[in-house]
Amino acid sequence: DWTTKDFIKHAVSDIRRTVGKSRVLLGLSGGVDSSVAAALLHRAIGKQLTCVFVDNGLLRAGEREAVEALYGRHFKIDLRVVDASALFLRRLKGVSEPEQKRKIIGRTFVEVFEKSLKQIGKGVDYLAQGTLYPDVIESVAIDNNPAALIKSHHNVGGLPERMKLKLLEPLRELFKDEVRAVGEALGLPREVVWRHPFPGPGLGVRVLGEVTRDKLEVLRQADTILLEEMRKSGWYAKVWQAFCVFLPVKSVGVIGDERNYSWVIAVRVVESIDAMTADWTRLPYDLLQHISNRITNEVRDVSRVVLDISSKPPATIEWE
Ligand code: XMP
Repeated sequence: DWTTKDFIKHAVSDIRRTVGKSRVLLGLSGGVDSSVAAALLHRAIGKQLTCVFVDNGLLRAGEREAVEALYGRHFKIDLRVVDASALFLRRLKGVSEPEQKRKIIGRTFVEVFEKSLKQIGKGVDYLAQGTLYPDVIESVAIDNNPAALIKSHHNVGGLPERMKLKLLEPLRELFKDEVRAVGEALGLPREVVWRHPFPGPGLGVRVLGEVTRDKLEVLRQADTILLEEMRKSGWYAKVWQAFCVFLPVKSVGVIGDERNYSWVIAVRVVESIDAMTADWTRLPYDLLQHISNRITNEVRDVSRVVLDISSKPPATIEWE
């Protein structure tokens, strides 16, 4: 529509005027905000934009490949994928306390990102971020509200100063729905523009307790099934988030006449307006049964599926 087109036109000329002949770096997560920022910057400055995607080993199935296909091959953005999964998993070894896991993941991310900036950052003057208007407000709120630190949300705080880079935040006056409209107008696929939120620490906070490669793999398989069934049934678009959680608990099951002692997966599906409060979604029983059957039949080492029926508050959306 008119306002979206108008925004894009003005943003493109603003970005060009600000950036001049400099290079711009953007940390691409694959989420809505950084994706739209990437598409907008690419429209404005083309090859002067370099995107860095960090594979932290805590991504869902196929995520890295999807980012490579869309931004690298389709949009032909200068995309650098940094595979740091071994480093993240090594650092997380033996750590089970949630806040400690978040801190390790956050710190390692900043470190890896900073290192890749040093390697590819010649002639770079700007660091771009997909900051939205609510983030601008929230960072003020977080500074003044210790309750907001119940879970430390990770970002690249302090990095621009250390790297002597200027910040470029082309979406900072927009709300989420406006960002989605801009993304669609720039040709991003609907699956990207309408993605559910995904936490920065990724599956690192959805494998409860110590994170290992094997547990991550079990979780990925279960999560893929849940997302497939949510999309197929049309429920994906109706809810705020839908994901699986790996519980480090074993339970007894039976396959044929063999006893099967293996892991438990929790299904978490919630509705929300702003993530401050949330209610668990009353999915149809038939759909729940189908999801549960598929997970226990198709994912080796899962013997049981449970449904999370907690609202926020007092529970949070994520389990860690
Ligand atoms: P909680 O679990 O606090 O989550 O109810 C509220 C919303 O925030 C997301 N979330 C995060 N996002 N980094 C993020 O970028 C994080 O560390 C993080 N922790 C939670 C969560 O998925 C939900 O949408």
